[in-house]
Amino acid sequence: MLAKAIILIGGPQKGTRFRPLSMELAKPLFPLAGVPMLQHHIDACKKVPNIRQIFLMGFYDESEFATFMTQCISPDEGIQISYLRETQALGTGGGLMRYRDIILEGQPDILFVLHGDVCSSFPLNDMLAEHQKRAVTDHFTLMATQVERERAHLYGCVVENPETGEVLHYAEKPQTFVSDLISCGVFIFTPKLFDHINALSGPPALDLDCVDDEEADPRNSHNVSLERDVLVQLSGSGKLFVYKTLDFWTAVKTSGSALHANRCYLSFVRKSNPERLVAAKPAGSGFPTIVGDVIIDPTATVDPTCKLGPNVTIGPGAKIGAGVRIVDSIVLDQVEVKPHACIIHAVIGWQSIVGAWSRVEGVPGLPGTGNQYVNGQKNNGVTILGKGVEVAAEIIVRNCIVLPHKSLTSNQRNEILL
Ligand SMILES: *[C@@H]1O[C@H](CO)[C@@H](O)[C@H](O)[C@H]1NC(C)=O
Ligand SMILES: *[C@@H]1O[C@H](CO)[C@@H](O)[C@H](O)[C@H]1NC(C)=O
Repeated sequence: MLAKAIILIGGPQKGTRFRPLSMELAKPLFPLAGVPMLQHHIDACKKVPNIRQIFLMGFYDESEFATFMTQCISPDEGIQISYLRETQALGTGGGLMRYRDIILEGQPDILFVLHGDVCSSFPLNDMLAEHQKRAVTDHFTLMATQVERERAHLYGCVVENPETGEVLHYAEKPQTFVSDLISCGVFIFTPKLFDHINALSGPPALDLDCVDDEEADPRNSHNVSLERDVLVQLSGSGKLFVYKTLDFWTAVKTSGSALHANRCYLSFVRKSNPERLVAAKPAGSGFPTIVGDVIIDPTATVDPTCKLGPNVTIGPGAKIGAGVRIVDSIVLDQVEVKPHACIIHAVIGWQSIVGAWSRVEGVPGLPGTGNQYVNGQKNNGVTILGKGVEVAAEIIVRNCIVLPHKSLTSNQRNEILL
């Protein structure tokens, strides 16, 4: 059995809610638990023995992912990775349709489709086993999870037949309550998916193999969303089934939600790769005091009098001075934190400087919330410093979003600083 995986990474237009962090780096490459967000998807795909090829599909310029694509899989793993560039907004289904021939090359039996902005342990092998156990053929499986009732309307809601696991009803971001079971944005399809997209995308019966003239290619008029069109149409047809994961799941939409995602992946790393975490160290051991889940890049320098954790990642080349305290935060590459500064519930952007005795603080972002920077309004949430921000000594920055290259020389609270 041959399987392929397609990771849908969207494009810069869709990353706007991730500002200011998306101004420097494509959102799918933002580090969570010390590695690019997409690396977690790739690592999960590597664990499925049948996946021999992985596609990234999106609107970004391929060059933004070139380095990542050469580093995320080592050559001896024998998995090919390629980029499928979308140029027209044809919906997720339309995008897949455009690259149908490339995706179906070598006749894969199974196509995993994963949204790039979701975080999960991605139990793909387990999901595949359950998919194959069903006493039907040509069926599809979607990964689902239970969320709090109040948040369900933010996602694709699924009503299942509890006996058979069949999806009876699917509603994308419904206005009224439908179900607290939601789609995780992780699917198992078969090549039959393309028949469904085709059926949904207007006049069929045209010569789909004529791709010489892009404008005339009928596939270019296909505007089909996997969720809004394909899943809605498949529900109740006896062809779509639920695989429920009890493991963590979260989506990274806003920059504030990155902190929650970071926490989730840190606890996952504790279970899956504990050697990547810094071992707990008591005060006075000649090493920084480490509490809970902490990852420090080997190229960072951390003064032995610091106290870090829980839920902290320190990026490459960062310099953390004497007596610094950091809790529940992401400190990105080349940041300098001067002595005795304190950072709590914050993301500190690349090359920023936090002055001595300063305090940069937010309130913990909850899953699915942290929708700060919405319509120019600042909600309560994580404090975020963009790239190259300088916080002077002895300043308090509380609950703020600071755009790149800004210098702060006075206390700030509940602001978006442009
Ligand atoms: C396809 O649909 C999406 C969402 O409805 C829309 O934003 C986009 O402009 C459409 N694309 C084309 C080429 O019509
Ligand atoms: C650290 O993360 C874990 C897992 O999400 C969470 O239970 C805990 O409350 C977090 N602690 C802090 C201080 O953020």
